Amino acid sequence: MPEVPLYSVQEIDETWNPQMMRIVQAAPIEANGFKIIFDHSPDLFFLPRLRCNRLRCGGFFIRKQLHGFAMMLYKQVFVHGQPQTVLYFCNLVASPEGRHKGMLYRMSDFFLEDLPEDIRMGHAVIMRGNVAARRLLNRFHPRYPNMPYSRIIGAWHVKNILLLPKLPGRQEISVRPARNDDLDTIVELLQQEYQHRLFGPVITKESIQNLFRTLPNFNIANFFVAEIGNEIAGLCCAWDMAPVKRNRVMRYGPRFKVLKRLVDFWAPVIRYPKLPDEGKAFKDVTILEYAVKDRNPKILKALLDAIYRVYRKRGYHLMIFGHSANDPLAKAAKPFFYQEVISDILIFSKSRQFVEEFPVDALPYIDMMLL
Ligand SMILES: CC(C)(COP(=O)(O)OP(=O)(O)OC[C@H]1O[C@@H](n2cnc3c(N)ncnc32)[C@H](O)[C@@H]1OP(=O)(O)O)[C@@H](O)C(=O)NCCC(=O)NCCS
Repeated sequence: MPEVPLYSVQEIDETWNPQMMRIVQAAPIEANGFKIIFDHSPDLFFLPRLRCNRLRCGGFFIRKQLHGFAMMLYKQVFVHGQPQTVLYFCNLVASPEGRHKGMLYRMSDFFLEDLPEDIRMGHAVIMRGNVAARRLLNRFHPRYPNMPYSRIIGAWHVKNILLLPKLPGRQEISVRPARNDDLDTIVELLQQEYQHRLFGPVITKESIQNLFRTLPNFNIANFFVAEIGNEIAGLCCAWDMAPVKRNRVMRYGPRFKVLKRLVDFWAPVIRYPKLPDEGKAFKDVTILEYAVKDRNPKILKALLDAIYRVYRKRGYHLMIFGHSANDPLAKAAKPFFYQEVISDILIFSKSRQFVEEFPVDALPYIDMMLL
């Protein structure tokens, strides 16, 4: 019988979900005093499969025991205005016993050795302050020639907006939930926005209809549209991802601890639900997509205001809004009270020259369903 190798990386699928979830629970992401788990149970493959054309999941084994994994998604996205297949590397995690074993080196052969020739690059995000993950970049070893070069090309800001009581502002732009006959305009606005973004997704009417069929509690009314005159001037898509993903803070950072004490004290007065204890999930709604005419932040602000009101009434803690650093549209979220988490966006490729010379001439886009 052939001997089982000490370390190996092998393709794994949904049958490994329970073991994968155990590893995630034992290995929270650590950054700036926070410890957080993105809990995708029961199926860690659900969103990644939905958001790409092809998915590979590499399991890191010590003998026959799974000790880590990562996913590589083949996504159809825009790069310099042209749709192409680009990799997205995510969900990297190692059990405490699986660390310091060169897992990423071993994974580089698995994920990058036999890449189709037309795939030149990939991208990924690393939460700022996640020292362990950051230290893995641009490490090389003569035995692992597939280790990629990488370069940080931007940042993705996630604003966790607390749905506290708000002084009623003037509502100059009317906002309503979308109807089926708005779908063509929604698709058009999203296409206009994303074709100019770096890694902007290729959106079609069918791709959105597919989300209606596949995602739990998701339909046309998850899109909010802003109207100016009788025309749709913008849209925002908001979804409670709880059936497929929950954000669990296992340890709060010192500043958030103070905030939690304060908010919990005033919770009954301000009619706000107490913030979850460590380990429990937030009740949150995520802004998945947005596009507004002329990239006008006022229109986006009206949309966010409307969604804020709807979900505050429903007893939610947070509205989660992500944007590229330096995006002028981010002005729309400035007036809210939020805690911000910043992640660096990196590109990677086996060609050093490609990485060094890659022009970053557009705002990068990161898929909030995969974060
Ligand atoms: C990121 C992760 C997979 C790395 O595991 P790994 O591949 O086994 O890497 P190592 O444990 O060998 O760590 C890599 C380097 O970071 C260093 N490091 C690890 N944790 C650190 C910390 N908290 N502070 C400073 N350095 C740290 C290690 O010492 C090592 O550096 P060295 O080789 O120069 O000594 C693992 O830490 C993990 O699962 N973290 C939780 C989930 C996560 O953050 N995923 C990444 C999302 S982008």
